[in-house]
Amino acid sequence: MPNNKNLICLLDYSPEEIRSLIASANALKQGRLRDDPQAMAGRSAVLIFEKPSLRTRITFETAIHEVGGHAINLAAGMVQMGRRESVEDVAQNLQRWVHLIVVRTYSHDTVVKIAASCSIPVINALTDAFHPCQALAFAQTVDENLGGEKKVKVVFVGDGNNVCASLMIVCARLGWDFVLACPAGYEPPPALLQACADAARDSSGSIDVTHDPVSAVADASWIYTDVWASMGQEAQQERRAKDFAGFQVNDALIARAPTEVLVSHCLPAHRGEEITSEVLDSSRSRALDEAENRLHAQKAVIVHLFS
Ligand code: CP
Ligand code: NVA
Repeated sequence: MPNNKNLICLLDYSPEEIRSLIASANALKQGRLRDDPQAMAGRSAVLIFEKPSLRTRITFETAIHEVGGHAINLAAGMVQMGRRESVEDVAQNLQRWVHLIVVRTYSHDTVVKIAASCSIPVINALTDAFHPCQALAFAQTVDENLGGEKKVKVVFVGDGNNVCASLMIVCARLGWDFVLACPAGYEPPPALLQACADAARDSSGSIDVTHDPVSAVADASWIYTDVWASMGQEAQQERRAKDFAGFQVNDALIARAPTEVLVSHCLPAHRGEEITSEVLDSSRSRALDEAENRLHAQKAVIVHLFS
């Protein structure tokens, strides 16, 4: 099993470690409520969320409860991290009382700072840069559906955002082909693209960026999308809606992909913008399976961090 102390970014995890987490998530899913290891018995976790959440908060609280732990929610306004007291001081205090910090922030640096300031495990529950828990649940869902396939090709249609970054990393680590189809100017940072290209070379995967979604999906096994304006980018919503015209995942785009193509979305979805209800609610959609797998994948991470 992985021996990393934190889950900040999946680039910190090897292909073997990621595969081991997926296998553990699958086993935990099978044995849910019957065989849950009590890895956090008698221990507490604090959840700090600077941004809204449905899936992440509920799945973490539930996962922590099912492995015997106690979750404490700390609304961002309550702590005022970086204003009432420094991020470092918050982390150093928390580690004297609790055993795990799960944190969702705007700046990725905040999570990095928390992890550097304390000796208890820290899990990134989404930052502006990454969403590793989503990518693990995605990988588990791909494994469930295409586990036997020789080659998996994931096409992310939309913004080169936090979810895209973490999906790209997991694909690069697992030897899957990954293509981002985005409008010009919405690519992930060059350093991240380079790191993923290097990882993909080692795993026999590939990383590509294109501005043509139609040709990208021609041989896709999986099409993924996410909102065009992420949390914190609300002021850019109108401009982005214009820039992303032509990047909607709809029946016309699906018709250009192989008939067996599967689709997912991290949710929440803006129906009628990045994805239509026809596609999101269709039999090829795995979005809710992936949402369910958040619970199992995060439980696998917690069990690993406490074993
Ligand atoms: N996908 C996801 O992280 O959902 P929430 O923002 O609701 O947690
Ligand atoms: N990219 C989205 C993901 C939400 C789960 C956001 O950051 O708002």
